Order: sequence, then structure tokens, then C-alpha cells
Amino acid sequence: MASCSLLLLLLCHPPHPLFRRSNVPPQGYYNPLDKGGSMLTTVPGTFPAGLGEPLNVIISGHSDADVLKDQETDGGLRNYFLSFGYASECLGQHLGDDQAANLGDGNGLLNETAVIRWDFGDPQLGACKESINGGAHFRYWVQDGDSADSGAVFIAASYELPIAKQHDIIFNGYNLGRDWMIGNVTNQTALIDTATVSNTSTFSGRTMYANYTYQTDVSYQSGILQNTSDGVNHFQSVAPKNGTAQDGLVAVMQVKIVSRPTVSSAVSIIPTALSSLVAFALAATSCHLLSFTL
Ligand SMILES: *[C@@H]1O[C@H](CO)[C@@H](O)[C@H](O)[C@H]1NC(C)=O
Ligand SMILES: *[C@@H]1O[C@H](CO)[C@@H](O)[C@H](O)[C@H]1NC(C)=O
Ligand SMILES: *[C@@H]1O[C@H](CO)[C@@H](O)[C@H](O)[C@H]1NC(C)=O
Ligand SMILES: *[C@@H]1O[C@H](CO)[C@@H](O)[C@H](O)[C@H]1NC(C)=O
Ligand SMILES: *[C@@H]1O[C@H](CO)[C@@H](O)[C@H](O)[C@H]1NC(C)=O
Ligand SMILES: *[C@@H]1O[C@H](CO)[C@@H](O)[C@H](O)[C@H]1NC(C)=O
Ligand SMILES: *[C@@H]1O[C@H](CO)[C@@H](O)[C@H](O)[C@H]1NC(C)=O
Repeated sequence: MASCSLLLLLLCHPPHPLFRRSNVPPQGYYNPLDKGGSMLTTVPGTFPAGLGEPLNVIISGHSDADVLKDQETDGGLRNYFLSFGYASECLGQHLGDDQAANLGDGNGLLNETAVIRWDFGDPQLGACKESINGGAHFRYWVQDGDSADSGAVFIAASYELPIAKQHDIIFNGYNLGRDWMIGNVTNQTALIDTATVSNTSTFSGRTMYANYTYQTDVSYQSGILQNTSDGVNHFQSVAPKNGTAQDGLVAVMQVKIVSRPTVSSAVSIIPTALSSLVAFALAATSCHLLSFTL
């Protein structure tokens, strides 16, 4: 039975660039609030207790399936992050306490998958500089539990102060962190002006790493995240006097791989085609036998 579903899984998830998930709602994600989740993370040890940081960016489940895989190979999510100048933590070191999030997908509250930092143009060591000097970074979670399996990636983006200041968030640092990241993601030539973004803003552009070129189309949406300071970590120092710590906008990104390295894809297409054939034959046989027995 286990091997049967594994084989079917292989068949249903072939590494094909045009493949998209079929169970994704039109907007590209499920609203975590619909099933007991939250658009705020849970930060350990806040004062007052129970504060969180906004999930202010979502990579839509309608993105290419390869991009939604949490790996650096085959143009996966980690390679995509590198394409817009963000790398995994310094020398594999993990600093600070994990934040947790409940995406309403039935998995409950889970710790972050990882923290990813602006790499200052240096994918190997740049994230070390960010850890010390502060800057743009984000944490992310994948919505893939049984009750809301969109495959969408939920991101809490912000801009932090240097380590000497305990990595607090800069003034307006959630909104700025989101917009500067979206500027990088869509290869803008100038900073996106946070004062002018709204729920009608859109941005598009291309980035490249390891000869994978990504096209990202972003649209800002309101209504899923609240425009408020209530419950938001560091609200005292982040929020403008006449405004809110988070403006309630979520940047929803749809990512496509528009070109791939020629050498590596030429090498990998044949074994992929072969293994799909073998998987198909085996799955057909064993699943047929199974249904026969049942
Ligand atoms: C989640 O993160 C917290 C805070 O860093 C840590 O104490 C806990 O062990 C982590 N839980 C798991 C399951 O990794
Ligand atoms: C990209 O991100 C870096 C680090 O936050 C920032 O300095 C730079 O201005 C951003 N670029 C754009 C176009 O937003
Ligand atoms: C990003 O923008 C720069 C200049 O605006 C351009 O030269 C570069 O080709 C762009 N990158 C990609 C992958 O299209
Ligand atoms: C990327 O493409 C260039 C030229 O097309 C080639 O020289 C280089 O080896 C390729 N790099 C990778 C990592 O595939
Ligand atoms: C956009 O925001 C305005 C208020 O700023 C609101 O009236 C409108 O319903 C929103 N539109 C959408 C599509 O969310
Ligand atoms: C908030 O105050 C700043 C100056 O401190 C001003 O530039 C901005 O327009 C004000 N925003 C609103 C919504 O009143
Ligand atoms: C958020 O609320 C503030 C006032 O509390 C308002 O000035 C601002 O325009 C709102 N932002 C958005 C994006 O709706």
C-alpha cells in the first residue's frame, strides 16, 4: 500500500516545468483564518506575551511546482531565494529563537522552516554580514497540511537592526522589509515607495541564479492581514505615531521558471523520462493487484 501511494506520488509529481498543483484555490493559498490559523507568527518571550510578526508575503501555490520545492537543486525555492539576493543563514548557524506559525492547514503551530537573509551580493558569506549589521531577512512556512494543502509559502519579511541592538525591527520595518524584498524579487531599479503601495499595486520582473531564470508577478492584496498594531511584535518602536505597525497589505507572488541551464536539463531529462515510465509500469501493476485484492 505504502509503495503503491509512493509510486502514484511519483507519477502525480513529475519534475515538469509546466506542472502546477491542482488543489489550489483561485487566489493561490487558503486563508489561515478560515481554519483556526493566524496571519501573525508566534514569537517566544515577547512582552506583553503573545505578540507576533505579520505574514506579509505569500508565494502562490499556482507558482511552478519546482519553485515550491524546498531545495537548492533543480531551480527549487532556495535557488529562487538566491536569485533575488537572499541566502540561508551564516555558515549554517542558526541565531536566536524560532518563531512559529499556524497556517490553518491542520498542522497546527509549527516552527519556521528557516531564516533567509539579504546576502549583500555574496551567497556564501553575505548572510553573516546581515546577521551582524542587520538588514532585510525573512522566515517562511509552507501551507501543506491535509486540510489546506495549497503548497503556498507564507513569508514574514522585515528589516532588522544590528545584532548589538538585539535585532529589533527598524521603524516601519515590516512594511519596508516587504517592499524592499519585492523590489529585489522583481528586479526593480529603484526602491518601491512604501508610502504609495496599495491593494492595486503590481510589480513584475526577472531574476536569475545558476542559469535558472525566474519571472515573478506580484500583486498587493488587502483583507487577509489586518491594518493594525494590535498583537504586533515591537509595535511601540515600529509603528508611526499616526499609523499602524503593519499596513495590512500582503504581497502575493506568482513565480515561473522561464529558462533552465541547458547542460543540466539535457542530462536529467532522459533518466526522468525513464524513471517515470518504470514508475508508471510498477504503479499500474501493484495498484491494479491491490484493487483486485480489495
Ligand atoms: C521550536 O522553537 C523553539 C524556540 O526556538 C524551541 O524551543 C523548540 O524546541 C522548537 N521546536 C521544535 C519541534 O523544533
Ligand atoms: C534590495 O534589497 C536590498 C537590501 O534590503 C536593498 O538595499 C536594495 O535597495 C533592494 N533593491 C531594490 C530595488 O529594492
Ligand atoms: C535585472 O535588471 C537589470 C538592469 O535593470 C538587467 O540588466 C538584468 O538583465 C535583469 N535581470 C534579469 C534576470 O532579467
Ligand atoms: C550557465 O550558462 C553559461 C553560458 O550559457 C555557461 O557557461 C555556464 O557554465 C552555465 N552555468 C551553470 C551553473 O549551468
Ligand atoms: C482596497 O482597499 C480599499 C480601502 O483602502 C477598499 O475599499 C477596497 O475594497 C479594497 N479592494 C480590494 C479588492 O480588496
Ligand atoms: C503621518 O505623519 C507623517 C509625518 O510625521 C506624515 O508624513 C504622514 O502623511 C502622516 N500620515 C497620515 C496617514 O496621516
Ligand atoms: C492603514 O490604516 C491607516 C490609519 O490607521 C491609514 O492611514 C492607512 O492608509 C491604512 N493603510 C492601508 C494600506 O489601507
